[in-house]
Amino acid sequence: MTDTNHDGGADMATLDEGRAADEIADLSARIAQANEEYHTLDAPVLSDAEYDALKLRLLALERAFPQLARPDSPTQAVGAAPAEGFGKVVHAQRMMSLENGFSAEDVTDFVARVRSFLGLRDTPAFTAEPKIDGLSLSLRYENGVLVQAATRGDGAVGENVTANARTIADIPHRLTGDVPALLEVRGEVYMTHSDFQRLNAAEGGRVFANPRNAAAGSLRQIDPAVTASRPLRFFAYGWGQLSEPLADTQIGAVQRLGALGFQTNPLTRLCHDADGMIATWAAIEQQRATLGYDIDGVVYKVNDLSYQTRLGYRSTTPRWALAHKFPAETAWTRLDRIDIQVGRTGALSPIARLEPVTVGGVVVSNATLHNEDYIAGRDSTGAPIREGRDIREGDWVKVYRAGDVIPKIADVDLSRRPQGSQPYAFPETCPQCGSDAIREPGDSVRRCTGGMACPAQAVEKLKHFVSRAAFDIEGLGAKQIEMFFADPVLPIREPADIFTLAQRDTRNLARLKNREGFGARSAEKLFAAIEDKRRIPLARLIFALGIRHVGEVAAGILARHFGTWDALIAAIDAAAREPAHAADDKTRRTVLADSPHWSELTAINGIGSVLVQSLVTTLTQEAERASIDRLITQIEAIPAAARQAEETAVSGKTLVFTGTLERMTRAEAKARAEAMGAKVAGSVSAKTDLLIAGPGAGSKAAKAAALGVTVIDEDEWLRIAGSA
Ligand code: IVH
Repeated sequence: MTDTNHDGGADMATLDEGRAADEIADLSARIAQANEEYHTLDAPVLSDAEYDALKLRLLALERAFPQLARPDSPTQAVGAAPAEGFGKVVHAQRMMSLENGFSAEDVTDFVARVRSFLGLRDTPAFTAEPKIDGLSLSLRYENGVLVQAATRGDGAVGENVTANARTIADIPHRLTGDVPALLEVRGEVYMTHSDFQRLNAAEGGRVFANPRNAAAGSLRQIDPAVTASRPLRFFAYGWGQLSEPLADTQIGAVQRLGALGFQTNPLTRLCHDADGMIATWAAIEQQRATLGYDIDGVVYKVNDLSYQTRLGYRSTTPRWALAHKFPAETAWTRLDRIDIQVGRTGALSPIARLEPVTVGGVVVSNATLHNEDYIAGRDSTGAPIREGRDIREGDWVKVYRAGDVIPKIADVDLSRRPQGSQPYAFPETCPQCGSDAIREPGDSVRRCTGGMACPAQAVEKLKHFVSRAAFDIEGLGAKQIEMFFADPVLPIREPADIFTLAQRDTRNLARLKNREGFGARSAEKLFAAIEDKRRIPLARLIFALGIRHVGEVAAGILARHFGTWDALIAAIDAAAREPAHAADDKTRRTVLADSPHWSELTAINGIGSVLVQSLVTTLTQEAERASIDRLITQIEAIPAAARQAEETAVSGKTLVFTGTLERMTRAEAKARAEAMGAKVAGSVSAKTDLLIAGPGAGSKAAKAAALGVTVIDEDEWLRIAGSA
């Protein structure tokens, strides 16, 4: 590597802007040339290592001099990973979603919950502002300079769209005035109706279904020049990481964002009670048609930021905000056919194929039918829905859309039912593999019993395994999984096969690098990306297995509880050897006594018996377990460290609250204790570590004293909880 140490490669600290600009121009040209050579010649001039070194140097310069980064920089362009498109950004603070409300009652409930959580006698103030129907974006400013823009992604990890965001006129490159050292601004990218119509006309007709899709499609362009040509706008409504608070109130913080140079929504109002919030919602809905951009509801936020901090977050939504949605839009259309999809857990999901129809600006041609009961016109208890009207192929149905979710079917018009139509016969065998499809008692879903032998389940499981929150292997997405699954020479049929791919490729005559769509560099890149994930955090591994009921949150809890894969699997095997477990509450109590391992699992905060049942059944199922064992020999699970937040005075301890708390409600005390890693129990036992007793504490305090449990008062508790 002679030439990779670039001539102009001076140390960042001593580099001035002029020389940096020269070096950036030079590097950009050399990388662009290398890209071209790579794509047009069979023998690239630069080695991969030399190429990477140039790119890393350019990235470092662009980070040090963000104002010099050009929208057409090769660091932002295709070369990197065509299939995946953008680099990834781990959000410094998760991007949350919002709890939805649909009625005035949902609003009064929300206000009541906030009040009771905080223990307030009076209703606190709330802001009300339109919920913009676009896509959220997080903008990171360091010393007032825009250094990074990222999409929401899954909330934890988004896509790096910095170059594209820089082309949006509403997004300042530099902030002026009293600028915090670090500021992450969050808001919504959207497109106005008139810009959307002009864009679609210019592109020769119906290109995008609606302004939201147009905004998303435009922001996620590989070429920033294309984004620059699209009329995108941005409203700021929130923030992520900050070096100092923006204000004491939500409304004050939004005003600060305005003063810093952002557009904020002019319809934002301060409300003093639920009636005021509902009136503002109605007023905003009145203006909906004339605003010139799409909104799908009103967002209420607790105004006092110290209250927001106390209220905190559930797993994906803040307790201090509510999205009050406008009613769903509906349309009638013909249901042509019912298809059955087989998911990763074997669930047979009926999909309605519809005559395309526009519902609230979006063309809809598929809708979910949930399950066979829903089609037959009854709910899971057998009670009639739609007054018992069933849904058949050929029927006229009422479709509705609420938010981003898959459209649903609300009703059916019997007067237009074709003569001679037959009730839909839900399949009792898997349409993909022919295995029996059965319904467990109490389950509304019929499932294929083929397990790993069912190709549909196996493919869906693999797709889940490589998905973003799981193994997240660059260059191995859903499309590639389908390709490798069907590959006769270099197949991937189960997760372990991914990690033997490179080895099998070497033994092969038909090497991957010689295939259509691959080359030496992309094949090597894929193998390197796989190698990179051979060591994986335990939580991701658990989530990746795709076990029913085990989502990201539960996987994290299990990983932190057991620390290692071996400990987890030992606990599950031990539980499996215990007497049969009834899921129902009454019988469980008697079973628990002779099932200590089972009860260790169900006692974990956030892990219920249904989840434990699913874990135990799946991991002790022979073929499934053999496949997982093969995977485990290929990888190394990084032991989970207990979360930092849990290393508190009460982490791992069991707390009981009793008596009256005067400065914090029970709900808040419980949420605070749990956030600090403690478990909160309802009654005192030998397992209790700490009793917090307010005035009026009775039998619990006496019992604690008898058991020798430490008892503290509220002041002491507040000192521990850090708010005395
Ligand atoms: S606040 C922690 N305010 O709605 C709360 N979100 O359904 C973060 N959205 O992902 C969101 N307008 O993309 C907030 N005025 C508004 C909004 C808004 C639109 C979007 C946002 C969020 C989604 C949640």
